[in-house]
Amino acid sequence: MYRSTLMHTPGNPFLTPGAMQVEEDGALLVTDGVIAASGPYHTLRGSYPEVPAVDLRGGVLLPGFVDTHVHYPQVRVLGALGMPLLDWLDHNTLPEEGRLADASYARTVAHEFLHGLTANGTTTALVFGSHFAPAMDEFFGAAQASGLRIIAGQVVSDRLLRPELHTTPEQAYAEGRGLIGRWHGQGRLRYAVTPRFSLSASEGLLEACAALLALAPDLALTSHINENSREIDVVRNLFAGARDYLDTYERAGLVTSRSVLAHNVHPSDRELEVMAGCGCAVAHCPCSNSALGSGLFPLRRHLQAGVQVALGTDVGAGSGFSMLKEGLQASFVQQVLGEQGVTLGAAHLLYLATRAGAEALGVEAITGDFTPGKAFDAVYLRPDDAGTLGTVVRHAESPERVLSALFTLGSQADVARVWVAGDEVYAAPGRPRFNPV
Ligand code: GUN
Ligand code: ZN
Repeated sequence: MYRSTLMHTPGNPFLTPGAMQVEEDGALLVTDGVIAASGPYHTLRGSYPEVPAVDLRGGVLLPGFVDTHVHYPQVRVLGALGMPLLDWLDHNTLPEEGRLADASYARTVAHEFLHGLTANGTTTALVFGSHFAPAMDEFFGAAQASGLRIIAGQVVSDRLLRPELHTTPEQAYAEGRGLIGRWHGQGRLRYAVTPRFSLSASEGLLEACAALLALAPDLALTSHINENSREIDVVRNLFAGARDYLDTYERAGLVTSRSVLAHNVHPSDRELEVMAGCGCAVAHCPCSNSALGSGLFPLRRHLQAGVQVALGTDVGAGSGFSMLKEGLQASFVQQVLGEQGVTLGAAHLLYLATRAGAEALGVEAITGDFTPGKAFDAVYLRPDDAGTLGTVVRHAESPERVLSALFTLGSQADVARVWVAGDEVYAAPGRPRFNPV
């Protein structure tokens, strides 16, 4: 049993006001990694008098964060500011991605990357992989050892990047099939077919991706879309017969309820309508969109069309692994949009960082909130009493204000412990022990 302040969004606050549930002195009873009961601490204590409780008072227990778009090979290129997408790829990012041809380099980067996720309280992630199959074997091995829920795949491209990052449709299919056979469905791992973006993928390569996707019903598909105006112009010229950017994926059969497309900063109404109809989700990455100057995300249009939206950090174009910061930036962007924006309160941010991600990835039956029957995937945020966040939290007038203070001021430094399916996958070094009560 875990005793703490609990907050989660089993419902969708964009549809139902009051969808966030809060238990100020709450408890979760966890059996074999699954939440067996939840409620006020004193109620659960009465029902289960013998079960020891881990005392997590003084902080807040949230569902583990779900990052729907983050690049494994880009940890070391975080922090390059001031470039638009295509320059940032050419000058900052693709040279580093080429270095993952060396499997031992890739192994080190994989560990750095997975540490970034766990230390920030992310328990489930849809991860853009490396172009190299051996680098993906290293990654999946490390991901399995981390205990995280990871959906990832080899990135494929056959034009306009750097020659060492290019493959062919035949090679992409053969390597993808091998990786799926070795890793898909192993423990908490799943495979995502991952064409980098239409700009760097021929129609033949997109068809090879469709053939991979047909290998199993629970494979995912992820890519980028409508991020930057120059990128969109190049794609328009490359696919002369396509109606728009989405159509380049649609014609290959890649737009389904298993698809998560990152960015979509500049969508047409037709694209939004098709995405909503297919149940294709959008990974909104507001830190990345601001850092690369890609634009201001039209969240209102996505919601009005009925498109599923969740958050992604987009490391390394984004500004780090913190889903708290991503939530804050999402709220800033909507404020800047004025009347075209959507006011995001703490409940919206929590939903976007947890349950919405689980829905986008099709894992909401397992994770994303604290409903009994779900896995105990959780992050315990415990601000330092002496810091500004600690002060604000102590004086907050409501749990909602505590949560918005966590999104505003919280960081990796406030992540004390993280669990996946009841297994502790992270404990901050040097933090006090938590004694059973
Ligand atoms: N489009 C194609 N590749 C990338 C990438 O690595 N990052 C971002 N933000 N957009 C992309
Ligand atoms: Zn990306």
